[in-house]
Amino acid sequence: MPIRLAAVAGAALFVSSCQETAVQPQPMAGADPARGRRVIEQVGCGACHLIPGVSWPQGRVGPSLDGFGSQALIGGRFPNRPEILARWVRDAPSLAPRTGMPAMPMTEPEARDVAAYLYTLDAR
Ligand code: HEC
Repeated sequence: MPIRLAAVAGAALFVSSCQETAVQPQPMAGADPARGRRVIEQVGCGACHLIPGVSWPQGRVGPSLDGFGSQALIGGRFPNRPEILARWVRDAPSLAPRTGMPAMPMTEPEARDVAAYLYTLDAR
């Protein structure tokens, strides 16, 4: 899909040029954070991540997602933008083949809802 390729090319460009410019996460149009939280519980992101609002489990395989909404990069290498985050939560290996984060069983709309929930997790 051309849009996905453009997003990945943009990510590569961003990383290779190593800009310090803050990437402000944008809200997900038409996505529902409450539904996203339910998907997070159903597919079990908590097995590997500490996620505020998800009380159990609270795994430590991956990084804590506390404050993720105001983080500039995903996994330290991709700009934290809605379309990229939605792709990451559903299929991280398609962006980063060696990542420890597996592809997760959800639809694209569910992935957008999950991303919307993660954007509610602001650092204070
Ligand atoms: C099997 C363990 C595992 C599961 C399950 C898992 N992740 Fe991850 N996740 C990881 C690991 C490991 C990383 C670090 C990956 C990297 O940097 O390449 C990561 C990274 C992330 C990041 C980037 C964090 C940051 O600080 O940049 C986000 C966001 C994320 N995961 C969200 C999710 C969501 C949402 C789910 C459920 C749909 C999920 N993860 C399920 C292991 C997991």
